[in-house]
Amino acid sequence: MLSVSGLHAVRAGRTILHPTSLDIAPGERIGLVGASGSGKSTLGHVLIDELRSRGCRVAHVCQSPDEALDPLRSMRFHWHEAERALGLELGAIDKNTLFTSLKIADGDLRKRPWGWSRGMQQRFVIAMALISSPDLIVLDEPSSALDPVVAAATMDLLDQHLEGKETAMILITHDLGLAARRVSKLMVMETGRIVEQAPTEKILQHPQTRAARSLVAHRSWIKLPC
Ligand SMILES: Nc1ncnc2c1ncn2[C@@H]1O[C@H](COP(=O)(O)OP(=O)(O)OP(=O)(O)O)[C@@H](O)[C@H]1O
Ligand SMILES: [Mg+2]
Repeated sequence: MLSVSGLHAVRAGRTILHPTSLDIAPGERIGLVGASGSGKSTLGHVLIDELRSRGCRVAHVCQSPDEALDPLRSMRFHWHEAERALGLELGAIDKNTLFTSLKIADGDLRKRPWGWSRGMQQRFVIAMALISSPDLIVLDEPSSALDPVVAAATMDLLDQHLEGKETAMILITHDLGLAARRVSKLMVMETGRIVEQAPTEKILQHPQTRAARSLVAHRSWIKLPC
């Protein structure tokens, strides 16, 4: 169990994350949802820093592959950098299994990011994050830069890859539709606080707080493929 307490953040003299505690069980899937500016990414960053400072293996996937990939470097260079960062020998990881499960096995590693589609780039970034099976993977709006069909497919591949594994997942999103089918628990944020947390179904059926009600009220997501 990964347990943290007292996470908080002050920026420019303003508290943007009030003291927050979290317990994450191995293999647990949590959705961190809330309106823009509610503090989701801040909580994600502070959590990652705290857990890494304790020696936990925590991977981070950000919104756009542009943030993770250098346009002037080949995909192979990025892969080797990820191996190096983990203290592994180059080529130590059997990337075939990962690449096959994320459907990027036919990607040309000699190419630079722009030689791959954005969907493939983001799946490559997710593959880098999954090297050496982290304790936790934090995905911060991982598919909002993708079209909805590719976004759903990417999340499905990740779901399948994580099935039965100990890697826990926090999916940060303001898209309840994306989170609903993929996480067992939702945490709702508003103005730097977790204001509600409960099993996904419970929040969807009986949201208690204003923040949760307003997210659930936008029910058009039920018809979306993701
Ligand atoms: N470095 C900073 N300096 C000052 N204010 C900041 C800083 N980083 C974040 N904030 C503020 O803290 C609040 C929470 O920001 P955060 O990025 O965590 O929200 P979010 O829920 O991830 O939003 P979004 O859904 O738009 O990504 C916002 O009001 C933001 O403007
Ligand atoms: Mg954010």
